[in-house]
Amino acid sequence: MLTLGIETSCDETAAAVLEDTRVLSSIVSSQVEIHEKYGGVVPELASREHLKNIMPVIREALGRASASLKDINLIAVTYAPGLIGALLVGVSTAKAAAYALGVPFIAVHHGEGHILAAQLEYPDIGYPYIALLVSGGHTGLYHVQEFGTYKLLGQTRDDAAGEAYDKVAKLLDLPYPGGPVLDRLAQEGNPGAIKFPRGRLEGYDFSFSGLKTAVRNHVALFKSKDAGFDSKLNIKDVAASFQAAVVDTLVEKTIQAAMATGVRKIVVAGGVATNSSLRKNMKQAADEKGMTLYLPSMDYCIDNAAMIALAGYLHFQRGEQSSLDLNPRASMPL
Ligand code: KG4
Ligand code: ZN
Repeated sequence: MLTLGIETSCDETAAAVLEDTRVLSSIVSSQVEIHEKYGGVVPELASREHLKNIMPVIREALGRASASLKDINLIAVTYAPGLIGALLVGVSTAKAAAYALGVPFIAVHHGEGHILAAQLEYPDIGYPYIALLVSGGHTGLYHVQEFGTYKLLGQTRDDAAGEAYDKVAKLLDLPYPGGPVLDRLAQEGNPGAIKFPRGRLEGYDFSFSGLKTAVRNHVALFKSKDAGFDSKLNIKDVAASFQAAVVDTLVEKTIQAAMATGVRKIVVAGGVATNSSLRKNMKQAADEKGMTLYLPSMDYCIDNAAMIALAGYLHFQRGEQSSLDLNPRASMPL
């Protein structure tokens, strides 16, 4: 059975073709260069880019899978959460294609796609597992009891982890998106140089706004009168110390959640799951506790349509379908 997956919730236009749960193709067209000069995603520009790119991206995904539209048996698309105009492009395209082809249509929650992404490469993970979902829009810890049952254990009370990266990068006059840039700088800095707060909250909730303020206060000490920073500011140390604070918190809460639930398998998902320290430290912590960590490869951590196609396929296997009068939603809990 061939599933076409479509993802347009933010600034990546993506399409993928799966044969059952196996990825035949996964194409992602990033808009980063367009939004970079504005320091963040401009929603209206994102919608227009999706409109321009959606058909070429779908055609490329079909071509790489050696399939044509008439071979497709199911269409899955992200319908929430995200930028409403951006979501509309994917959802309208998916509905039109499903109607024209006479095939079923499934609407998928973006967060569910991320949580299931590890199964693309590790189909035998099996349930239950603990999923840490860390991206630009979400930071949450889930007890994945079985397919479709995602018990929220804790989430951020303010910024998402990726959002904290993007905001701290902005404070340091670094380009958008901040995550990859800060991660690279952090690798050359001293994580113990500055003692940034760890934002420890009760239970499994996270908070990153205090950390962001601490970074702002630190760098303010080095602001020179004419714009820019004076040369005494060690940006690499700031990046490394900030990264250590974020990663320590994410690792600690995830391991605590696994211990408390008795679940021995951990999945890390979302754009921040590409972070080098998070990958390394989570692996070390899981190994120490005898737990198994499943890390999707970079291509399946960032926004992609293969994870959406997989979620759609699994819902369809349970006999579910979405109605063609469904509308996208900007926000929606998992
Ligand atoms: O999952 P994603 O591609 O899109 C959303 O659904 O939000 O995640 C994008 C986020 C951005 O905030 C970006 O700065 C962050 O992931 N990110 C990183 C890294 N690569 C991307 N954060 C930390 N370290 C990285 N290496
Ligand atoms: Zn995402």
